[in-house]
Amino acid sequence: MTAVVIIGAGSYGVVYKEYLEADGRWDVRAFLDDDPAMQGTTVAGLPVLGTTAELPHLRERGIEGAFAPIGNNSVRVQLLARVRAAGMRTPNFVHASVITASTPQPDSGVYILAGTVIMPLVQIGEFVMISMGVKIAHHTTLERGVFLSTGVNVGAGIHVGERAFLGIGSTVVTKVRSVGADSLIGAGAVVLKDVPAGITVVGVPARPLQRGAAKPPQDVE
Ligand SMILES: CC(C)(COP(=O)(O)OP(=O)(O)OC[C@H]1O[C@@H](n2cnc3c(N)ncnc32)[C@H](O)[C@@H]1OP(=O)(O)O)[C@@H](O)C(=O)NCCC(=O)NCCS
Repeated sequence: MTAVVIIGAGSYGVVYKEYLEADGRWDVRAFLDDDPAMQGTTVAGLPVLGTTAELPHLRERGIEGAFAPIGNNSVRVQLLARVRAAGMRTPNFVHASVITASTPQPDSGVYILAGTVIMPLVQIGEFVMISMGVKIAHHTTLERGVFLSTGVNVGAGIHVGERAFLGIGSTVVTKVRSVGADSLIGAGAVVLKDVPAGITVVGVPARPLQRGAAKPPQDVE
């Protein structure tokens, strides 16, 4: 058993506690959370040990790694980089029901939930988060910090840029070559053309909603 903490004691953190405990390989010791109101509380039977300022001190307590199942891609990437800088592991979590012919590198902080199917020759970058029932076709690349929400379909040969967020039930068809970094694909969108970096697209077919920085959703499934 590997002793770990979960960063973020909200509802998604509690869901990951359930997944990790059911997996049987993780001794989930505690949560960390940067919300001052959470300090000293107990969440789902686990203590909130402190804020992420505790990260450099966790190895002294025998804690080897941390999971950060946080839907905001920038926040997740920054936190997992801090976990690494503290000399700790950023383990992967791949649910037992996932069918994948493309395995992420060990300890690359990749999380893949139940029912997802991934074809061969898919590159999965570090800190990528893939939710339930996602389908990814061959020769597609997911760069660092991408999030694919529940039921997303990604066709073949598509480059999904760093921290792109694909909303629930969205589809990117095979003829698309690029989904830009920090773009946001709205729930249910069908993407037929390349998406530039940093914009939000919605609808069928997907069209830009706004220019400029996308607003990452806080609640993820
Ligand atoms: C695209 C998205 C980020 C836009 O959020 P927002 O910036 O707060 O935009 P608003 O809700 O103010 O909507 C702006 C307009 O876009 C439309 N719109 C928003 N999301 C849409 C979507 N997914 N598809 C089609 N139209 C959409 C709204 O109806 C509204 O149209 P109107 O101006 O004619 O009334 C958001 O709706 C979305 O789809 N987020 C993804 C959520 C998700 O998948 N979360 C993970 C799991 S639940």
